Amino acid sequence: MSTPLTPSRSILRNSVILGLFAIFTVGLIAFIQQATSERIAAEQQRMQMRALNEILPESEHDNDLLQDTFSIDDRQYLQLPAAATGWRAWRDGKVTAVILPVVTQDGYSGRIDLLVGIRANGELAGVRVVNHRETPGLGDKLEVGKGTWIFSFDGKSLSIPTPERWAVRKDGGDFDQFTGATITPRAVVQAVHRALRYFEEHRAPLLQPTEQERNDG
Ligand SMILES: Cc1cc2nc3c(=O)[nH]c(=O)nc-3n(C[C@H](O)[C@H](O)[C@H](O)COP(=O)(O)O)c2cc1C
Repeated sequence: MSTPLTPSRSILRNSVILGLFAIFTVGLIAFIQQATSERIAAEQQRMQMRALNEILPESEHDNDLLQDTFSIDDRQYLQLPAAATGWRAWRDGKVTAVILPVVTQDGYSGRIDLLVGIRANGELAGVRVVNHRETPGLGDKLEVGKGTWIFSFDGKSLSIPTPERWAVRKDGGDFDQFTGATITPRAVVQAVHRALRYFEEHRAPLLQPTEQERNDG
């Protein structure tokens, strides 16, 4: 017959079990968090690569676009919270286009991250959303595959349409809003316009990087 545990031994045993359980749970949560954040980062990287290739397909440049990066940091127009990466497309020794990272905090659910491709002549090569938290079925029509709206920027520039028409139709502009969702497209239209203005003001350094800058990329 086993002797019953004294109260103090029983408390000690339960404390040890509880402690081990806590260590196991914390370890499990840390493991899941690590695995999830790695998967999210890998997925974002994959989306970014796909977006870059869609904006400027290989047929449009003779350099390795994904490797031809430069550091860019701008709070005013691009509204980047920290230095980020931009890309240059080259053909026959000249920069033919750049892809700029642009952020807006004005989405329905806050931050939206965009990549905006601009040709040397100031015309938009394409825009892609690489990160957002807009509502499925309402605000997410900015994604390729959920709508064609994002293609409405192709070929536009600072002068096409005129500045006052760089807005959604509800605000008197040329860009469609989504059914029941104006906030998301409004934020994106304004962000793309800001990117074009940044390009206009920084055209020379963007299109004619020094050899040093090119090597630093
Ligand atoms: C649950 C919920 C989710 C919403 N999600 C979005 C969204 O992702 N994007 C958006 O533009 N509007 C969204 N809306 C609608 C906006 O609140 C707003 O009514 C709509 O964008 C029209 O804006 P306007 O009145 O300024 O034209 C959502 C509304 C609700 C109730």
